[in-house]
Amino acid sequence: MAKLEILEFPDSRLRTVAKLVEVFDAPLARLIEDMYETMYDAPGIGLAATQVNVHQRLLIADVSEDHDTPLTLINPLIREQSGTQISQEGCLSVPGIFADVERAEHIVVEAQDIKGKSWILEAEEMNAVCIQHEIDHLNGKLFVDYLSTLKRDMIRRKLDKQRRLAVGT
Ligand code: NI
Repeated sequence: MAKLEILEFPDSRLRTVAKLVEVFDAPLARLIEDMYETMYDAPGIGLAATQVNVHQRLLIADVSEDHDTPLTLINPLIREQSGTQISQEGCLSVPGIFADVERAEHIVVEAQDIKGKSWILEAEEMNAVCIQHEIDHLNGKLFVDYLSTLKRDMIRRKLDKQRRLAVGT
């Protein structure tokens, strides 16, 4: 396994709309393994392929504390959604920034597994938030896009400063 580099806002590659996964082969399985290693190491609760500069419709998530509930969704589609919830979100591509975002409370998702077989998943609460956040990544969208332009510019400046400080140390 190998740790992958995570793209950070405002990298324009994060704006790429991912393409459908059509080949379910060993390299795809390896990519998924590497994504889990990268996500658990970060640590984070979700990671979309877009964030590691692979523009295919694939995401992983694990909202458990013990890293024992991995969820891999390939070509995910939200079939139904209901209710609303507001929760504080963060993102490995926007390090150190957290903000409230409104999402559907309950979703039904159709996806394919690592062998290409279709399945249906119902998710709510944090799991539903995480899946919606990661599907946004596959469409080139970030959680900071839900905030005002002013707030987004502030975040951009704060991240620039963090990076300058990191280079200086
Ligand atoms: Ni994210």
